[in-house]
Amino acid sequence: MDTIKVHDKTFRLMLHNAEIERAISDLATKINDDFCGQQTVPLFLSVLNGSFMFAAQLMKHIRFPCEISFVKLASYHGEHSTGNVTELIGLSDILIDRDIIVVEDIVDTGKTYGTLLETLKRYSPKSVKLATLLLKPDVYQKEYTLDYVALRIPNNFIIGYGLDYNGLGRNLGDIYTLIK
Ligand code: IMP
Ligand code: MG
Repeated sequence: MDTIKVHDKTFRLMLHNAEIERAISDLATKINDDFCGQQTVPLFLSVLNGSFMFAAQLMKHIRFPCEISFVKLASYHGEHSTGNVTELIGLSDILIDRDIIVVEDIVDTGKTYGTLLETLKRYSPKSVKLATLLLKPDVYQKEYTLDYVALRIPNNFIIGYGLDYNGLGRNLGDIYTLIK
């Protein structure tokens, strides 16, 4: 199917599953090159919901001893403070002195990753790196190093391979782009 309707919008096929998974395999090779032979056991931290499919596929290609955990970012307004307070939900691992590889679905403006990085630093990890399935380079505004990027895409809204439009589309094995 080359076009699909999700809620009120129509999307066109943009990236086939085979192309996505080849890019993930290539990305895993880079991560393996960087971490194989190290004495420590890195922790992959997959940020739900969007990264579940990418994380599952990526982990199949990782060739060094590692752990994986799944977290969610929750943001709320503190009663007595101004601005957002951010919390990691689901974190049961101790991060002190650990090598962390954050697994994200997509970096758009970079705001979400920036917030996550600042939050993670409070747990005193040894290092934090990012592996993201997708990056919209034309929109990315931050200075954070994006260590591992599988695919770069134009600034269009997309769904599939974990990413949703109002809850739908996460199950699609291919990636679809919004037809305007
Ligand atoms: P950022 O904070 O602007 O980098 O946005 C990152 C978050 O926005 C991602 O984790 C996604 O949940 C969501 N997002 C950004 N672009 C898209 C898209 O094209 N489709 C679906 N979700 C998106
Ligand atoms: Mg996300």
